[in-house]
Amino acid sequence: MTSQTIEQGLINATSAYEKEYGLAKNDPTLFWGEQAEKVDWFEPPKTILQNDEHGIERWFPDGVLNTCWLALDHHCENGRGDQTALIYDSPVTETKRSYSYEELCEQVSKVAGMLAERGVAKGDRVVIYMPMIPEAAMAMLACARIGAIHSVVFGGFAPSELAVRIEDAEPKAIITASCGIEINKILPYKPLVDKAIMDSRWKPETVVVVQREQCIAELNPDRDIDWHTHIAKAQPHACVPVLSTDPLYILYTSGTTGKPKGVVRDNGGHAVAMKYSMGAIYDMPQDGVFWAASDVGWVVGHSYIVYGPLIHGCTSILYEGKPVRTPDSGAFWRVCEEYKVDVLFSAPTAFRAIKKEDSDAQLLAQYDLSNLKTIYMAGERLDPPTLDWVTSKTDKPVIDHWWQTETGWAIASNPLGIEKMAVKAGSSTKPVPGYQVEVLNEIGDTLPPNQQGFVALKRPLPPGCLPTVWRNHDRFESGYLSQCPGYYVSGDGGYLDDDGYLFIMGRIDDVINVAGHRLSTGEMEEIVGGHPAVAECAVVGIHDDLKGQLPLGLVVLKDGAKVSDGELKDELVGKVRNEIGAVACFKQALVVDRLPKTRSGKILRRVIRQIADGEQYTVPSTIDDPGSLQEIEQALTESES
Ligand code: COA
Ligand code: AMP
Repeated sequence: MTSQTIEQGLINATSAYEKEYGLAKNDPTLFWGEQAEKVDWFEPPKTILQNDEHGIERWFPDGVLNTCWLALDHHCENGRGDQTALIYDSPVTETKRSYSYEELCEQVSKVAGMLAERGVAKGDRVVIYMPMIPEAAMAMLACARIGAIHSVVFGGFAPSELAVRIEDAEPKAIITASCGIEINKILPYKPLVDKAIMDSRWKPETVVVVQREQCIAELNPDRDIDWHTHIAKAQPHACVPVLSTDPLYILYTSGTTGKPKGVVRDNGGHAVAMKYSMGAIYDMPQDGVFWAASDVGWVVGHSYIVYGPLIHGCTSILYEGKPVRTPDSGAFWRVCEEYKVDVLFSAPTAFRAIKKEDSDAQLLAQYDLSNLKTIYMAGERLDPPTLDWVTSKTDKPVIDHWWQTETGWAIASNPLGIEKMAVKAGSSTKPVPGYQVEVLNEIGDTLPPNQQGFVALKRPLPPGCLPTVWRNHDRFESGYLSQCPGYYVSGDGGYLDDDGYLFIMGRIDDVINVAGHRLSTGEMEEIVGGHPAVAECAVVGIHDDLKGQLPLGLVVLKDGAKVSDGELKDELVGKVRNEIGAVACFKQALVVDRLPKTRSGKILRRVIRQIADGEQYTVPSTIDDPGSLQEIEQALTESES
């Protein structure tokens, strides 16, 4: 495209959004080059976009920086060291603590020093398995400081999930805490870490343990060290320069198989994307207070509890609690009032939980929310009843935005920092500048408006998105890129309407979202299918009013299996809980005589889900045995009664 046509396109653009979107689309190098200037590089990039040896676009390849520097030192250097960087609010331990940029930088430098003293260096991996305590954020930033690659594993995952990640990432060290604290229960973490290391072929040299007074963990003197004792004597470590394309972190996410995918995030593209998104999407002032009520184990926690707000210079809140029962369903509003939160970000399921317990919002009425500007939601589709409830009760703009672990930041949103657009219920609004969203059919043709298909992103992807899957580039190619050349296929289905609004309708693969947590039904099937009495099985995600989706297992027994249905269910529930974790919420398993299949043997999971959700369904013409569908309907009816 010539500069003349670009300019013509921009003149025709009628809105601020269209103008910015057009700039990013028509000249990504110019657009992102300008955005990169807002980041404090050690050596600014001369090259903005270049393909790597696999033909994958890489951003700012010759730029040199350090993400921890951007998040902490940069602000201290610029006279903002006294500003509050992090607020830890923990209703489960009744603790509140805050750290200025200066204090956080000092702590993180020492954690970095401690890791370096244990031999952790640039490029080494560090697995972080921690509850929502400030040390989790410090550990992440300390890794970034020395150029080590962190891989945070959500605390709700069981030892075998942790073991898989340890084997894949091969960490030199693991950082953990003695326990996590959930509503009314203390969950010792250290035995889970010990078990995961025992089960894993890879053994880390060091395990650093943050001892919490609620439960003191036993330390193995040959391997484990106490966080507090070692930090007290550690030498502060300076920021190590890294290349823009060097990995900052690996975050494992559920795919369609039992093996999670290690999404790789680079340093430079990520920093630029974080900085851009804090302004363009969240419209955050530099000294504002940002609260992502999520967990550091998920991508939302990485991007918007730790990196985004700190790189932007905001105050970020790290909340160790739930939206309800810690102590009540006014918890979110209490935090918003107490810290004068500007932007609150959580998953719709959190607000459904609040609505369930305080439907008239009586607790909300007790708090002053005058500071709160906007509420953002992601992790699952924002269902219109929840949108209505939150909007009417808070009287704030409620913004649904769509993204994935793979992208690290929103693909579609109402970009309030650029232009506030009308909200359409069920839509995450329009593609964010930098993302070119198209809806494709199965052979890769672009579909017209209002037709549902595969939601895909035309390449190049903007800065911040994954360049590969950790040590498995083929999986990146086959899982996302090869289906439609020139596109990244998201795994979500949906459509664009006549106004260009995007409607994400759900996953088109074996991934489900349970309480905003991404889980693989394929993995659950592998676990359920591994039970000695099970001949075959299908696990589907069915609708749940609170958690969005819940897994349902249908199992066919082996001939002669001697186990009652009740016993089998308990064993399967226990098995999934032990092998994935409580977070899977696998609690329903039904025994059926056969599974509905096509004549070629493919299980009709979509139809099973439709039956379970009470939706209308069409009997596929390729079905092998239509009677199997009635059997499932009957089994479900019996289980409900
Ligand atoms: N460590 C250990 N266990 C954990 C855990 C953690 N970090 N997080 C959750 N669990 C356990 C819970 O204790 C629970 O165990 P149980 O079956 O023994 O009771 C199980 O995992 C399921 O947890 P969850 O799905 O969170 O259910 P819940 O009933 O405790 O809470 C909500 C429901 C909706 C309140 C809660 O899921 C929530 O706040 N979600 C917000 C969504 C969110 O953070 N999304 C991230 C992306 S934005
Ligand atoms: P995760 O990688 O855990 O962030 O999960 C990403 C998946 O969650 C997406 O592929 C979607 O299926 C779903 N998701 C996230 N945000 C939204 C949203 N705003 N609307 C619909 N689905 C969403």
